[in-house]
Amino acid sequence: MNELEANSMCVPSRNPQAGTAESEASAAPALHAPTLVDRFGRTHRALRVSVTDACNIRCQYCMPADTVKFLPTERLLSFEHIETLVRAAVACGIRKVRLTGGEPLLRSNLSQLVQRLRQIEGLSELALTTNGMLLPDQIEALVSAGLQRINISLDTLSAETFKQLSRRDGLSRVLAGIDSTRPFPGLIVKLNALVLRDVNLVDVFGLVEFACSRGLQMRFIEFMPLDSDRSWTQARMVAGRELRQLLEDRFGALRPIQNSDPSQPAVDYEIESTGGRVGFIDPVSQPFCQSCDRLRLTADGKLRNCLFGREEWDVAELLRDPSVDAAGLVQRMQACILAKHASHGIEQPDFQPPTRAMYQIGG
Ligand code: 5AD
Ligand code: SF4
Repeated sequence: MNELEANSMCVPSRNPQAGTAESEASAAPALHAPTLVDRFGRTHRALRVSVTDACNIRCQYCMPADTVKFLPTERLLSFEHIETLVRAAVACGIRKVRLTGGEPLLRSNLSQLVQRLRQIEGLSELALTTNGMLLPDQIEALVSAGLQRINISLDTLSAETFKQLSRRDGLSRVLAGIDSTRPFPGLIVKLNALVLRDVNLVDVFGLVEFACSRGLQMRFIEFMPLDSDRSWTQARMVAGRELRQLLEDRFGALRPIQNSDPSQPAVDYEIESTGGRVGFIDPVSQPFCQSCDRLRLTADGKLRNCLFGREEWDVAELLRDPSVDAAGLVQRMQACILAKHASHGIEQPDFQPPTRAMYQIGG
């Protein structure tokens, strides 16, 4: 029995408030508001909302090499329905929303969704994960609508490697996207890189130097078995520990920085010689499931309690049914949360990757 399972024996197997959701969802006072607490005592505060599964590039670690069939537009949740779901989630304690995809900027008028969500009282953080290519045209509208944070994927500074990795041209557009965030000092911008040993390991020093020179934080995310091609192997993945060692050999000591938010999966370090910061998200080699506070909504309206989960809870049908109110949505969110496992189990010999890939779930 692992630590989480042992802990679960001390907490009720069902959230004691779950049964009262129906009567309480409509009552305004926060005192008895329903919550999203799972069997292991994890309170859920973060919701990732995928707005499309479509993308303008085809990263090897995500998309299939050959033809991809994206969801038809009519299967995507409307902005109105996303807002309704987010309102219900915020009433249950969700505080952070991150818009993802696919490539979220491919969804028409995304800033209108940002504007709708920004008005939800109780939502304290609104963020976006993007490949950055469409940012120059949209950044102004997104920031004026109230977007607070952006994570931009940047895996290499070589146009050739970019093409190899994403099977498309586009590095100059990504760099223009990063530059386009400069006039907005209030916006928190981070750069995310995923390293494949056989493709872009040589790029890591350049990426760190690039980010530091622009005053941005570079973050390295371990390659997870979520690619459509099922090409994930332990050998292709470069563990955070190995990257930290490489960076120390190059730049000198890295000093861990205390993170104020324990549910944040990234562990940040300061490069002592330069004062620059670099972060690591190591879901495979150092699972952080124990402090996971995330719930996910796919572009076609399914709730997922884990990237690696094999089950989904449909909210699209509830949102399209006029007889279902907020209490019905709360019940479905709670059912999803209560089925959450202690951990993703990647390290187990019988681990089965999920049936959907990253672009279909939401990064
Ligand atoms: N493993 C880890 N992260 C992934 N992403 C996409 N596919 C994977 C994967 N297999 C993340 C990348 C990208 C973001 C959109 O999703 O970090 O920057
Ligand atoms: Fe597109 Fe992001 Fe997947 Fe790359 S990782 S193909 S940018 S959805």
